[in-house]
Amino acid sequence: MKDATTTTQLDVEAIKQDFPLLSKGFHGESIVYLDSAASSQRPTCVIDTMSGYYNYSHANVHRGVYKLAEEADRLYENARMAAGRFIGAPDPAREIVFTKNATEAINLIAYSWGMHRLHEGDVVVVTEIDHHANLVPWIMLHEARGVELRVIPMRDDYLLDLDNLEETVDGAKLVACTLMSNVLGTIPPFRKIADAAHNAGAIVVADGAQLVPHAHVDVQELGCDFLAFSGHKMLGPTGIGVLWGKADLLDSMPPFMGGGGMILDVKFEGIVPAEIPTRFEAGTPPIAEAVGLTAAIEYLDKIGMDNIIRHDTELTAYTIESLKETFGGDITIMGPDTTENRGGVISLALKDIHPHDLAQVLDESNVCIRAGHHCAKPLMRRLGTSATARASFYLYNDTSDTDRLIEALAKAASIFG
Ligand code: ALA
Repeated sequence: MKDATTTTQLDVEAIKQDFPLLSKGFHGESIVYLDSAASSQRPTCVIDTMSGYYNYSHANVHRGVYKLAEEADRLYENARMAAGRFIGAPDPAREIVFTKNATEAINLIAYSWGMHRLHEGDVVVVTEIDHHANLVPWIMLHEARGVELRVIPMRDDYLLDLDNLEETVDGAKLVACTLMSNVLGTIPPFRKIADAAHNAGAIVVADGAQLVPHAHVDVQELGCDFLAFSGHKMLGPTGIGVLWGKADLLDSMPPFMGGGGMILDVKFEGIVPAEIPTRFEAGTPPIAEAVGLTAAIEYLDKIGMDNIIRHDTELTAYTIESLKETFGGDITIMGPDTTENRGGVISLALKDIHPHDLAQVLDESNVCIRAGHHCAKPLMRRLGTSATARASFYLYNDTSDTDRLIEALAKAASIFG
């Protein structure tokens, strides 16, 4: 195996100190956390910021005229600006909608834009490698509205097959694609897909849940019309997600949910919705979570997104090489063999050990991986399996984590023969 010092540019030892679970352990035992694709850990600064907010600054937003409420308003709107700047939004104050998570953000598009703009026979294009969050809302529109679904397939090398891209998007109204597969780590050539979609007159939805936490993502460079991502995968709290949408598109859309805060006027005869983005934020929004998200963004900015993706890529390359060296033909890695088009997610099969058995044996060594279909059932079918074991990395992992993963996998291999 390679010398650990050759593989990482980040000071991971120092970073781990920012994460109590990683520096102090779980029930006093050191833990190898390799499930950041499901949810990341969060640094003390995020937790402290949220607790400081709850202790000293909390009031409801967009309602109060007293100084405390104005402070809560300021912090909440500050979070909107921070989230917008993080993804290069041209007009964050109007274009950033806070939701519960990326899933809700995509559902917002499907219900608000989709339900009003899509009719029987209209075409929506999805990909075979997408997560249920960016598939099910479109499949539901297929079922409810008779929308035609077309699928960009995956090639045997785990990249998207774009040979028939123009044909596939021809006549489409909407194209939905992940920025990075949560199962394979594949990073599709999004710009190419977005350009083809726009040439065909379609709008483009990017699911950024996996890539936004790990790489510099700029909505203008991507060329998407909507981008969805979640706070809890990027060191922030659970319960907050972000929908970015082009202002003119958002402005043309009706509310998704009705309630307090999202209206200008209410009469029994009808409502006048508020301006964007308030129109899409019915009820009390995730205020403390927005404040925590700001702290997470500041932490990520301090480390540098280019450093994070470089670190993930190097650790992924080291891990794949180590897995192959240790297990040879007994291991199957389901994901691109290069580091160019992939992020730090490694789905694997070891001999014929069931992924859940593997995850359980690894847990005995305090190595946390995810086993299952990863909310990507169509992809599982394409892979010819019902589940995979998946290790996923973040800025707080290093080669020592890989080495413990491999030790634990070797133990599992010996247990299951
Ligand atoms: N989408 C998350 C995952 O891939 C939950 O694990």
